[in-house]
Amino acid sequence: MSITILGIESSCDDTSAALIKDEQLLSNVIANQDVHVAYGGVVPELASRAHQQNIIPVVDLALKRAGVEVKDIDAVAFTRGPGLLGSLLVGTSFVKGFSLARDIKMIDVNHLQAHVLVHFIQTDEQLKGPDFPFLTLLVSGGHTQIVVVRNHLDMEIIGRTIDDAAGEAFDKCAKLLGLPYPGGPMIDKLSKEGDPFRFKFNKPRIKNFDFSFSGLKTSFLYFLRDELKKDEKFIENNRSDLAASLQQTIIDILMTKLCSAAESTGINTIALAGGVSANSGLRDKVRELGKERGWDLFIPSFSFTTDNAAMIAITGYYKYLSGQFAGHDITPMARMHF
Ligand code: KG4
Ligand code: ZN
Repeated sequence: MSITILGIESSCDDTSAALIKDEQLLSNVIANQDVHVAYGGVVPELASRAHQQNIIPVVDLALKRAGVEVKDIDAVAFTRGPGLLGSLLVGTSFVKGFSLARDIKMIDVNHLQAHVLVHFIQTDEQLKGPDFPFLTLLVSGGHTQIVVVRNHLDMEIIGRTIDDAAGEAFDKCAKLLGLPYPGGPMIDKLSKEGDPFRFKFNKPRIKNFDFSFSGLKTSFLYFLRDELKKDEKFIENNRSDLAASLQQTIIDILMTKLCSAAESTGINTIALAGGVSANSGLRDKVRELGKERGWDLFIPSFSFTTDNAAMIAITGYYKYLSGQFAGHDITPMARMHF
């Protein structure tokens, strides 16, 4: 018997709904929120309002594209956290109403666990996920972690950032270069024309598999401040080299820890996940290292790097199989571990 899951994602600034039948993706609709660009970052109150406007049309479109009727849905999976509480509340409240009205089971999903499970979503391009155990480098706007994945629902974080996330480092430094939010994709684009070895920035010395990015941001800030004193057009004249050198430093920091985690755990199946895994420099470097070290590599397709409901639906599917459902008294959580 096959199982159809509706997934709902509303943890930050993307409203998304997806349908899967077993592990096969039927539809994945994402409504982005342009309203935040003018403010240089996500404004939580505006995000909640936009989710409220988007959620019903997005679910409706996902059902239509999948050719699924509400009566065919076995369970509705939703992001419980971590994320912005107001944004999470919109998804959770919608799901509670939907579940009560149509007598459909609810499944709560951890957003980070869902990012890790993207590799199991079956599409025309991807049929087979990684073998267990595998290591995931999860790099997003809010998180930077190395995760040992022993099974779909059995994961352990062995390294994490002690301050900023990799995505924050991209976004905050991009802002210093006068680039609009989110800065990560802009840095990626500019880097293609720049010299990655022109400037050197401080790299952290942190124990184990943990990360730190706040020192890099400060080093970048002070460097710009000093150079701008000498030449007020320094940023304008060196933007691509600055972007490329910054990106190179972030990739180096990430890859050093990933390599040592792979060596010390002896795990050679390596996956990337999260918004920053869209970065072309990072993807190239992981491929290069993968060839050198004989890694079995899993790099998500671009549509599954940033927030999407397909990853919520696939996680819901595995929780469905293990009988893990939520009650109607469930509440969203801004902070959440797994
Ligand atoms: O996973 P995600 O969509 O949202 C969170 O859960 O945080 O990640 C968003 C982050 C932002 O910081 C954005 O700048 C970064 O991913 N990002 C990139 C690229 N595309 C998105 N960073 C570097 N290069 C990219 N191409
Ligand atoms: Zn995310």
